[in-house]
Amino acid sequence: MAQRRKLAAGNWKMHGFQPDLGQVRALADAHPAPNCDVLICPPATLISRMSDALSANPIQVGGQNCAPQSSGAHTGEISAGMLADAGATYVILGHSERRADQAETDAMVCAKASAVSAAGLIPVICVGETLEDRAAGRTLQVVGTQLAGSVPDTSQGGSIVVAYEPVWAIGTGEVATTDQIAEVHDAIRALLIERLGPTAQETRLLYGGSVKPGNAAEIFATSNVDGALVGGASLKASDFGAIIEALDAS
Ligand code: 13P
Repeated sequence: MAQRRKLAAGNWKMHGFQPDLGQVRALADAHPAPNCDVLICPPATLISRMSDALSANPIQVGGQNCAPQSSGAHTGEISAGMLADAGATYVILGHSERRADQAETDAMVCAKASAVSAAGLIPVICVGETLEDRAAGRTLQVVGTQLAGSVPDTSQGGSIVVAYEPVWAIGTGEVATTDQIAEVHDAIRALLIERLGPTAQETRLLYGGSVKPGNAAEIFATSNVDGALVGGASLKASDFGAIIEALDAS
C-alpha cells in the first residue's frame, strides 16, 4: 500500500484578524510535527501575512476558495495563481458551507480544482451528506455523486486531497462514529481507484466534523483516514496542537 503522509488541516472559515497570527506562532513554536504535514487555511486577507509569519516553519498555508478563471474581469474574485503568489500551497474547495451559501455545484468545484492544479497547488475537495441524506440511507450515493462530479478527470491521486465532512457533524459537536467514517472513507478510496487508477492510493483522505483533542486519536486510527480538516478547534493553538500531536503519533 502506498505510504501517505498524514495531513492536519485547519479551516479558519470567516474568523481571524492580524492579532490571531499569534496563535499560529504559538503553534509553530510549541507543536513540532515531524511525521505529518500541517496546513492552516485562514481568510484570504491573512494568507500573505500568515505565510510570512511561518516562513521558517514547515506549516503550510492555504486558501478556502478560488475562482475557476486564471485572471480577467471578475470583480471580487481571487485566482489560484494569486493565492499561490500570496504564499498558499493548498486550496479548500466545495466546502458544504459554500455548496449551501454560494450554491456551488459539483461542476463548479471541478473547474476550480482544475484551476488549482494548473497553478501548481493542491485542491482539498470536500464532500459530505446532510442528515436528511443519511436518514434516507443515501450517504454513499450522495458522496459518490459529489466525488464523481467534483474531481477532475486529469487529477493525479497524489496531487489532490479529499475531505469527507458529514454536514450534520460540522460545528455541532456531533461526530460520526468510526464505523460511519470507515464506511465512507473505504468507499471513497475504492471510487477514486476506479476513477484515477493506482495513483488514488496516494490521495490523502481527511475526516472533518467536530474533530477535537478528545476524539482525534480514535478518528486517526480509522480505516483510510489520513488526517483531519478541523474547523473550530483549529483556531486555538493548544487545541489544534493537541490534534496535530495525536496525528503525528498515529
Ligand atoms: P468543525 O471542526 O468546527 O466542526 O468544522 C469542520 C469543518 O467544516 C472544517 O472544514
